[in-house]
Amino acid sequence: MSETRQATLLVTGASGHLGRRVIELLLEAQAGPIVASTRTPDKLADFSARGVDVRQADFDDPASLAAAFAGVDRLLLISTDAVGQPGYRINQHVSAVKAAEAAGVKHVLYTSIVNPGPDTPVVLSADHLATETALEASSMGWTFLRNNIYADILPVSLNRALQMGSLYAAAADGKAAYITREDCARAAAAALADTFEGRRALDITGPEALSQADLASIASAIAGKPLTYVALPVETMIDNMVSAGLPRPAAAAYASFDQGIAEGKFDVVTSAVEELTGRQPMRIADFLAAERETLMQGL
Ligand SMILES: NC(=O)c1ccc[n+]([C@@H]2O[C@H](COP(=O)([O-])OP(=O)(O)OC[C@H]3O[C@@H](n4cnc5c(N)ncnc54)[C@H](OP(=O)(O)O)[C@@H]3O)[C@@H](O)[C@H]2O)c1
Repeated sequence: MSETRQATLLVTGASGHLGRRVIELLLEAQAGPIVASTRTPDKLADFSARGVDVRQADFDDPASLAAAFAGVDRLLLISTDAVGQPGYRINQHVSAVKAAEAAGVKHVLYTSIVNPGPDTPVVLSADHLATETALEASSMGWTFLRNNIYADILPVSLNRALQMGSLYAAAADGKAAYITREDCARAAAAALADTFEGRRALDITGPEALSQADLASIASAIAGKPLTYVALPVETMIDNMVSAGLPRPAAAAYASFDQGIAEGKFDVVTSAVEELTGRQPMRIADFLAAERETLMQGL
């Protein structure tokens, strides 16, 4: 790459929540040239109008990827939401990694999960580990953005808990450094626009690790309602979700996040977000206060 040419940056899954926000941040930072790939280019007409090169790409259709990834230097591979069938998402991601390498992409950034190692109980982590392994086996540089759990799930789940007066989870006394999707997007945009060309794994985390009891106390203070954490065995959590209508494999996958918290897999706090973006990630108490309307719905 010449010294003067700016790297061409591509974001996959660009019509999703994270992808859209990353593109927006890249536009604000005047990074680029920017390429957005998506299964549905029509959804990104607004970005086209602002100079983003919007291309059709579907990881389920590997033939679509060569043209989509052509001429790209750095590529943000956003993990897909195809989590229902074991192994399915691995094939999607491996197709994307192979296509990126064949297209001459120099650096791939991948939205992984903290502690994706084989000893984790978190069901979905297997997809992330397999994708990381595919990148390690490639000739490309990479950045693993190992995201902690999105804080964006908390307002709805804590609202439900406030309605019951109890926060039920199978997380024992474990902690998680929840991070807002906004901070994940900021970190991803900064790392994509960065010039780092080697290989690194970054834990992308919130500023502090919180237990379920901590979450209950924060939500209780904001809502002005009592809320107690009740620790359940994981089997009881799964049975409760199945009774509420969730298929057992999905219930087990959800509950495995609690198991991961209980085993300390999400008790990881780093300064990576601040180092990448120059700004501390949002505290969960501040995030929940900003989401008070959702937290208070129906109360
Ligand atoms: N850390 C956490 O707690 C946490 C929580 C939730 C999700 N996640 C992960 O983070 C990802 C991004 O989050 P989000 O909130 O932006 O999710 P989202 O809004 O549901 O977006 C899902 C993304 O998957 C892409 N996708 C689905 N099928 C695809 C395919 N066949 N080929 C290429 N792309 C495909 C979509 O791209 P197009 O529609 O544009 O093609 C879309 O951008 C999720 O997909 C999930 O893997 C992490």
